[in-house]
Amino acid sequence: MKPHKIYELKRPIIFAHRGASCYAPENTLAAFELALKQNAPAIELDATLTKDHQVVVFHDSDTERITGLKGKINQLTLNEIRELDAGSYFDSSFQGEKIPSLEEVFELVGDKLLINIELKNYATPLDPLPEAVAALIKKWSLQHNVLISSFNPLALWKIKHSAPDIPIALLALDGQIGWLARSQVGEILNYQCIHPHYSDVNARFIATHHKKGHMVNVYTVNDPSLMRSLFDLGVDGIFTDDPRLASDVLNSISPIFEKKP
Ligand code: G3P
Ligand code: CA
Repeated sequence: MKPHKIYELKRPIIFAHRGASCYAPENTLAAFELALKQNAPAIELDATLTKDHQVVVFHDSDTERITGLKGKINQLTLNEIRELDAGSYFDSSFQGEKIPSLEEVFELVGDKLLINIELKNYATPLDPLPEAVAALIKKWSLQHNVLISSFNPLALWKIKHSAPDIPIALLALDGQIGWLARSQVGEILNYQCIHPHYSDVNARFIATHHKKGHMVNVYTVNDPSLMRSLFDLGVDGIFTDDPRLASDVLNSISPIFEKKP
């Protein structure tokens, strides 16, 4: 059986958070292409449903921060969303950059990178986003290249049962509010990975999860000294807006990380 990419990649894995979002508008093809050029082994993206139930890659439920226009993603059709400019907010050189469909990302980097898809159906937790994403993964035969995460345990449960060959990751909010997800209660999902905020991990947390065979990937780390501390602590992966910086930090403390797990 083909091994999954999360077990094939050298650890710690650098996930380009929303693509190389330090250098290009988040969650756009430009940001994912740049992550690939910067040799990131993995990307993270946010998946959400349009009004006509197409899967697009976008972080917010509202379009205003990124496009400058008021609107709700789940009240717009894919065609309407395709008219929006998701690049100018970042820099005029990215003017006209589109909000991509998940399939466009698969076409661009699906066979080249590990893709962490965060299911973003927090306002509508019962919507068919998990089923729609699982169907696209199967259509593109990417079961071994994707990891699905969410703060919504029901969405992960649906993936676990409809597509058991796709690994899942439970996201935990930082601090007290994320305690339940980080506890043994969260483990009922039988997940492969736990994704806590970096401030909630320590050596004991990591050792406990490693004994259970879980990977510990932490979000979102952009400071080089913090990256170094987390790599030293033994995290399996970090989410960062600056994959180039993370790679430089990792290279500076090699060769201890040169072996595969
Ligand atoms: O997957 C980690 C991180 O992406 C979760 O938070 O708000 O950046 O989607 P957010
Ligand atoms: Ca995310």
